[in-house]
Amino acid sequence: MILVTGGAGFIGANFVLDWVTHSREALINLDILSYAGNLESLAPLGENEQHIFVRGDIGDLALVSELLQRYQPRAIINFAAESHVDRSIHAPEAFIQTNIVGAFRLLEAARSYWHSLDSHGKRGFRFLHISTDEVYGSLLKGDPPFTETHRYQPSSPYSASKASSDHLVRAYHHTFGLPVLTTNCSNNYGPYQFPEKLIPLIIVNALAGKPLPVYGDGQQIRDWLYVGDHCSAITRALEAGRPGETYNIGGWNEKPNIDIVYSVCDLLDKLRPLPGGSSYRSLITFVTDRPGHDRRYAMDASKIERELGWRPAETFETGICKTVQWYLDNSDWVGNVQSGAYLTWLEKNYQGRA
Ligand code: NAD
Ligand code: DAU
Repeated sequence: MILVTGGAGFIGANFVLDWVTHSREALINLDILSYAGNLESLAPLGENEQHIFVRGDIGDLALVSELLQRYQPRAIINFAAESHVDRSIHAPEAFIQTNIVGAFRLLEAARSYWHSLDSHGKRGFRFLHISTDEVYGSLLKGDPPFTETHRYQPSSPYSASKASSDHLVRAYHHTFGLPVLTTNCSNNYGPYQFPEKLIPLIIVNALAGKPLPVYGDGQQIRDWLYVGDHCSAITRALEAGRPGETYNIGGWNEKPNIDIVYSVCDLLDKLRPLPGGSSYRSLITFVTDRPGHDRRYAMDASKIERELGWRPAETFETGICKTVQWYLDNSDWVGNVQSGAYLTWLEKNYQGRA
């Protein structure tokens, strides 16, 4: 059995669905169900007994300790986090609480559980922490991509909080011997992503005939990875990663934001043409930039390929096609997440932007 945290969020839910398809091992899913957690994303599981859902906080030491003692998992995978950079600019406190304090308490629970295991259990146990390329800061055009030894230079409250948790995870290995792994991944996209993030936001706004907000000049570069590929990399790191090591995960796919928006518009033009033959590109609106906006991220994912034999299976072209089609086919899921709280967020984030 394994314990997954944040398994009702975007990547966590994709991981859980993937796990039950490929493995017969049971999984406990601990998720607080914040605005980003959505049990509807796990609906394809039905009554699957392999999946045990527990609503709760990774920062609740008593709860996590009790779960660990009761279920005796061989691994913990920590997806739980506040994950949206713009929200961390408007309200950083929750990022400190979950991403730093919560991760610390989870590590504390894991440490005392791991100590209680026999030598065989201790050797096999893994604490896999899911992190981000944003901890490395911003690159200039022409700089080589981030490797695992690139210095940490986070620039937003979100990335600073993730960097803190990465340091804590490493310290628990170095100081206490806890067998940890850290994966740092680039921008994910795919099914079940909350439409506050760029790609799903562009899709749902376009379908509603709303403006497609592009921050600044739209020339910021991100590396994009299909979420299914991130899940397979995590599974591989869990299977074969060396304790104490960090693995960068990326799609070898750097693109400026404006090109991402063009790709989505062009696909929608084919799949759901606008009456009158105009293009969704006509909805693109350049708005005030994100404060402190990192200019470029790029991942060197050669270590995970060399050591663990992982490479992404999807290209951006195949992944974005699947993603746009998924949002077209799942308008109920989209409709249900666009609740009152979501609308309040849109107002807060976009109303003040010129
Ligand atoms: P998400 O915001 O979609 O989901 C986060 C999940 O964590 C939600 O289900 C939420 O309810 C849960 N959660 C939040 N606080 C919690 C708490 N205190 N206790 C228990 N559960 C809690 O995030 P995501 O995009 O799926 O990202 C998952 C992880 O991957 C995060 O750690 C994020 O930093 C990392 N990451 C994300 C990306 C990306 O592109 N989305 C890329 C690299 C790394
Ligand atoms: O790089 C990995 C990170 O990717 C993860 O760690 C984060 O959890 C995840 O949210 C994501 O962060 P970004 O800030 O890169 O993702 P987001 O989708 O918010 O934005 C992608 C780019 O698009 C970024 O440069 C900002 C820009 N953007 C975003 C929104 C929401 C716009 O131009 N307009 C928008 O409306």
